[in-house]
Amino acid sequence: MKRRISIIGSTGSIGTQALEVIEKLGDKFEIIALAGGHNVELLKKQAEKFKPKYICHNSNCHSEVENNMGSFASLKMTKAEESHKYQILHGPEGLEQICSNKENDIILVACSGKIGLKPTLTAIKNGIDIALANKETLVMAGDIVMAEAKKYGVNIVPVDSEHCAIHQCIKDISKVDKLIITASGGPFLHKSIEEMKNATVEQALAHPRWNMGKKITVDSATLMNKGLEIIEAHHLFGFDYDDIEVVVHPQSIVHSAIEYKDGSVIAQLGLPSMHIPIQYAITYPERYEGIKSKSFSFAEIARLDFEKPDYEKFPTVKLAYEMGKLGGTATVCLNAANEEAVFAFLDGKIKLYNIYEITKKMCDEHNIIKNPTIDEIFGVDKEIRIKTKEFITNL
Ligand SMILES: NC(=O)c1ccc[n+]([C@@H]2O[C@H](COP(=O)([O-])OP(=O)(O)OC[C@H]3O[C@@H](n4cnc5c(N)ncnc54)[C@H](OP(=O)(O)O)[C@@H]3O)[C@@H](O)[C@H]2O)c1
Repeated sequence: MKRRISIIGSTGSIGTQALEVIEKLGDKFEIIALAGGHNVELLKKQAEKFKPKYICHNSNCHSEVENNMGSFASLKMTKAEESHKYQILHGPEGLEQICSNKENDIILVACSGKIGLKPTLTAIKNGIDIALANKETLVMAGDIVMAEAKKYGVNIVPVDSEHCAIHQCIKDISKVDKLIITASGGPFLHKSIEEMKNATVEQALAHPRWNMGKKITVDSATLMNKGLEIIEAHHLFGFDYDDIEVVVHPQSIVHSAIEYKDGSVIAQLGLPSMHIPIQYAITYPERYEGIKSKSFSFAEIARLDFEKPDYEKFPTVKLAYEMGKLGGTATVCLNAANEEAVFAFLDGKIKLYNIYEITKKMCDEHNIIKNPTIDEIFGVDKEIRIKTKEFITNL
């Protein structure tokens, strides 16, 4: 039987790679819905090729898009495709409609930022399994999301390569002592703090290993991405922060590891390609050849290096540990302040190093709400974003 899937964020880095995986897997999937943000042209092309029942966009000019889609649908359809019609949805309501549609067996949440949280919760409440790329969902509301997944018996399979690696390594979680999360170290691993302080946007976006969306690429340059991943791992696998270790591994071949109580270490290895964890997550618990293009060779890789993270150069990781341990809305604040600061850096308003300084300031000033409700989480998220933007404007 085909697995029925919807993709939130189909036009992004993870979304487009997921469609490549699905194409390679041939008839294993039926696409129920594709949702993107503003890249309506790409969404149209994807709809033409993958024939979903629904598409959802977040473009402001809704009617213009609908007209365009209409003419696109009638003009570009070949004879064989004439019978294919899809309904056009819009904005957060559209995402809600997709995620409450029980035709879905699984939803890949591959949008960036806080937009992922509500659709994920809706899908969980409707008993739909989740392949989760959007790490902000767990950083903002990990306690609530994991409790709801347990309540509704829903699988959350991580797409993030590190968590996907841990998911593959763990057989009996009660016998695991420690999680070891690897970090490539990003473009500034072997640069001085001074060079990092004066980095341009281009330099920050030049990741040596991974080709990703801009937000996560900047997070990888500051290592905040690793900080967010520690919080994600804490929620996904239920480990204390003191039992989650980060190690820098520039080759990105070992995607993460676990240490069992008896000292055995199990690691997951693979070439640095997001196709592999995406395929794992959307086909779990099956395994297919799919996207595999070449066989893994230790001889070709020749060496694997590991080193301790430099927390003086990358203080974001420490900050994430601190906020994670504080819990409640501390991580909501961390996520919101960091995201706004990253956008300001990408807009040329602040320097790379300011991202940490601004995020730290917002975290220091935040009054944490313990055990927040979803409304309180969104309230704090909004408040911190406004405060961060105002602070940056007044700099
Ligand atoms: N890229 C990676 O290798 C990687 C690895 C691990 C984890 N992740 C995580 O996966 C998530 C996505 O990362 P990415 O690199 O794929 O980001 P990206 O390339 O920036 O893509 C983001 C996607 O979200 C869509 N989007 C934005 N606003 C939306 C809205 N309101 N409604 C629906 N869709 C919306 C975008 O649409 P438009 O482009 O059409 O505006 C795009 O499809 C992030 O949370 C990231 O941390 C990514």
